[in-house]
Amino acid sequence: MTPPKTAEYIISRLGDIKNNQKILDPCVGPGIFIKKLIEFGVAKNQIFTYDINSSFKSEIEPLGVSFKAQDTLIALYPDSYNEFDFIIGNPPYLNKASAYVRKNKLKLRKIYGKINAHETYAMFIVNSIWRLKEGGKLGFITSDSFLTLSTHKKLRKFILNNCIINEILLAPKNLFSDQKVSTSPVIVILTKCSGQKNKKIRENNVIRIIPRVNNEDDYQSPSHVNELRQIKYNSLPFNIFYTNVDEEVIELFEKAPKLEEFLKGFIGMHTHNNRKYIAAIEGTELAEVFKNRNIKSNDSSKKFNIIERKVFETGKWKPYLKRGGADQYYRPIMEALDWSEESIKIYDIPKNVPFEEEGIIISGVSSRLAARYMPWGCYWDSNKAIGFIKKKSMSITYMLGLLNSSLYNYLAKGIINNTSSIQITGVHALPFIEPEYEIKEKVEIIVKSIIKNKEKNLKYDYNKEQKVIDDVIFSFYARKFKFPNNLKQKLDQEYSIYCN
Ligand SMILES: C[S@@+](CC[C@H](N)C(=O)[O-])C[C@H]1O[C@@H](n2cnc3c(N)ncnc32)[C@H](O)[C@@H]1O
Repeated sequence: MTPPKTAEYIISRLGDIKNNQKILDPCVGPGIFIKKLIEFGVAKNQIFTYDINSSFKSEIEPLGVSFKAQDTLIALYPDSYNEFDFIIGNPPYLNKASAYVRKNKLKLRKIYGKINAHETYAMFIVNSIWRLKEGGKLGFITSDSFLTLSTHKKLRKFILNNCIINEILLAPKNLFSDQKVSTSPVIVILTKCSGQKNKKIRENNVIRIIPRVNNEDDYQSPSHVNELRQIKYNSLPFNIFYTNVDEEVIELFEKAPKLEEFLKGFIGMHTHNNRKYIAAIEGTELAEVFKNRNIKSNDSSKKFNIIERKVFETGKWKPYLKRGGADQYYRPIMEALDWSEESIKIYDIPKNVPFEEEGIIISGVSSRLAARYMPWGCYWDSNKAIGFIKKKSMSITYMLGLLNSSLYNYLAKGIINNTSSIQITGVHALPFIEPEYEIKEKVEIIVKSIIKNKEKNLKYDYNKEQKVIDDVIFSFYARKFKFPNNLKQKLDQEYSIYCN
């Protein structure tokens, strides 16, 4: 249930409610918002409520307002469009795996498929924007994941094309903690302002952005309020609704060429049976793990393969990369792919992928952006280790230094994707400035030395060298884009390898 102060705040952000205007709570539950509206003096005949659960009827109707038991997401009739002046609420958070979404999959896909809205809260946002009149206002408390996750790109585009975003307030993390809801909430206030004719008005709108507050008492006078012109949300990759990004960084995304022009990633191959076709190479850490597992397992059909190094070097095996993780710069090849004619026939090897070229491996699953050198001759798997091949005469060693820097960790993990996965499209969307000669040389020398040292000793501590790379890269970009000084502090504290 929505805490009363949060409901009060949302209502306070709607502005004046005139006595001929209609206001809807599309998923009313026990009616927290409705009770507050009545307290604020809104006439009962202006208030409309829906809920899928008809048992709320006996709680809501005695308040004197209209209640309809219906599935708001599916019950959309032609006259449901452009009907309300205000819509408020706390939409349910049910994901793709929920019984509700699974049961209604086809119907929901028909209505919301184009906007790719999977979770019910995302569908409620779309549904409510449709139900609003032009100029009408929406105030929701909901999960903040739609602000940044790449899966919600189309929803963000839909909002940008149809609304003025008045306010985004990151509500307290623990707001719903007593109800076992583990999402971090956001309050969003939108005004419907759709169509091509209103494009300029939307773009020129200044959004009021309030970074995460600690408790509900901070809503009315938060310690920070950022302002951002709405057009800026068109510039960040995937139209991310970022709430804490410096304008100068947005400008970097706007103006710099994309990394994709210099470095291109490719989804790798499938063996369909890794246990059968992939072997650990004797002497590696992985061979030890396999040996131990084999000792424990009695089932000989489930044994893990281990091959001797000299067998690996016969050409009947190819080096294979399939692991994520945060290792940077260098990791020894630990796996080999069976390259006999009969086995190759089984594999799915995409034709357009330049396997065997020298390049860079970026972890697809990692807490930070982690790039490693990929020697000639390698094949790679389809998601945990992603192979990238340079397109222009760019230096691989410079790229490694750049991608492993705190600035790029921030751009990739802090801005583009704040989950533990990294996608090719996300890496491609990073900005890239061609380095000046001295910058490039400086970074290359350090990277070569880190790789050499890691080859000798995998646990080699390169914090000091990394700090120099971080400083060189940051000051080069900061000079071009006038980054504020406190950004460097934030990178050192939150995005560097030496921060924890
Ligand atoms: C998170 S509760 C919010 C309740 C109340 N508005 C509040 O803020 O305390 C979500 C409500 O949505 C209702 N609901 C879930 N799916 C619905 C749907 N498809 N259509 C209408 N109501 C739905 C649930 O029955 C529940 O009462």
